Amino acid sequence: MSQAALERAREHFGKILVPQLERIERMKREGGWIDYGQVKPIVIGTLGGDGIGPAITRVAENVLKDLLAAEIKSGKVVIRQIDGLTIENRAKHMKSIPDDVLAEIRKCHVTLKGPTTTPEAGGPWPNLESANVSMRKELDLFANVRPVRVPSEGIDWTFFRENTEDLYALGSQGIDVTPDIAIDFRLITTPGSERIIDAAFAHAKKTGKTRVTIVTKANIVKKTDGKFLEVAAKVAERYPGISWDGWYIDIMTAKLLDRARRADFQVFALPNLYGDILTDEAAEIQGGVGTAGSANIGKRFAMFEAIHGSAPRMVQEGRAQYADPSSMLKAVAMLLSHIGFAELGDRVDKALEICGQYERKVKLTGRDTGATGEQFGKYVTETVRDPRLKERWQAFVAKDSAKK
Ligand code: IPM
Ligand code: MG
Repeated sequence: MSQAALERAREHFGKILVPQLERIERMKREGGWIDYGQVKPIVIGTLGGDGIGPAITRVAENVLKDLLAAEIKSGKVVIRQIDGLTIENRAKHMKSIPDDVLAEIRKCHVTLKGPTTTPEAGGPWPNLESANVSMRKELDLFANVRPVRVPSEGIDWTFFRENTEDLYALGSQGIDVTPDIAIDFRLITTPGSERIIDAAFAHAKKTGKTRVTIVTKANIVKKTDGKFLEVAAKVAERYPGISWDGWYIDIMTAKLLDRARRADFQVFALPNLYGDILTDEAAEIQGGVGTAGSANIGKRFAMFEAIHGSAPRMVQEGRAQYADPSSMLKAVAMLLSHIGFAELGDRVDKALEICGQYERKVKLTGRDTGATGEQFGKYVTETVRDPRLKERWQAFVAKDSAKK
């Protein structure tokens, strides 16, 4: 190998470390969590995104507006639409989030975001960084919280996926050392691990859970995963009432399919890429990625979204209005809980389970043989408002458990 290639690789490695060292300093100085009880008005921004994004975001926004009508009227909550997070506009500005869009996002406390197209090498769009990844980094949304529930099986999982580090932090800054050697960089930091693991334990404590499961591959990936595991042991000391265990990602993916044991898991904390993969698997167990929502939470900002993509084919075939908005409605439930409406958020969760998994009076087929997303949204809102919601939900869960 030529000396020049080696020198270039060394220089590259040095260069990518500088912003990361600065980032760690910022993390160490960061303040505490925002208290929404003290904020008035709470500003919620909505971002339609691409493909079926605008259609399902509109449904979710309408449900949110309906449910928060009194708070909007009293001025406690403001909902505003933010345009421009489309692939066309991002390509035009050659930015994964155009500056003016980012400025608008920063004026909101939380956002509800539809799926956005993620460009890839060889695709029709310039190969920009994913808008999701950029927003997570820009707003330091370090906790990707993904709940998965199958009440009739006793499954009630919450995943705390680290959202700003791991292979994602330097994912577009790898290097071809020579034409034959490609290297990407994986980064895990002590403060970055600490804040996500602490968030997982704090959630367990707050919600009366007793166990946190840490997922790594620390036997093979010794430095980075090793650090994550070491930090977990330290954080756990602060939570004496909560037990914890470490699992490797390979056996963890298997255990999620183990019907005899899977309901024993409660809260998970894991690095970014393992979390990306494991949460898709978990969502599938709940009924598919279309049923799962995702919260991207930082100490100051938060963004709530579907976990699936933008389904451009549905738009090309003129079927966007028939797209299933469940994942965005799940995001609404998480958003509500996050900004202090936990009881309402819980009602939306239960209504979604009734409407999507059990009762299914309004059926979505993804085409004109079924209902529109808007009709489904109305069905969910009506169900949320039903004074007998909890009994209705309980009855379905009991019936389903008896079948299994
Ligand atoms: C997710 C998605 C994103 C990710 C993509 C769209 C960048 O898969 O939110 O899980 O990899 O994080
Ligand atoms: Mg994913």
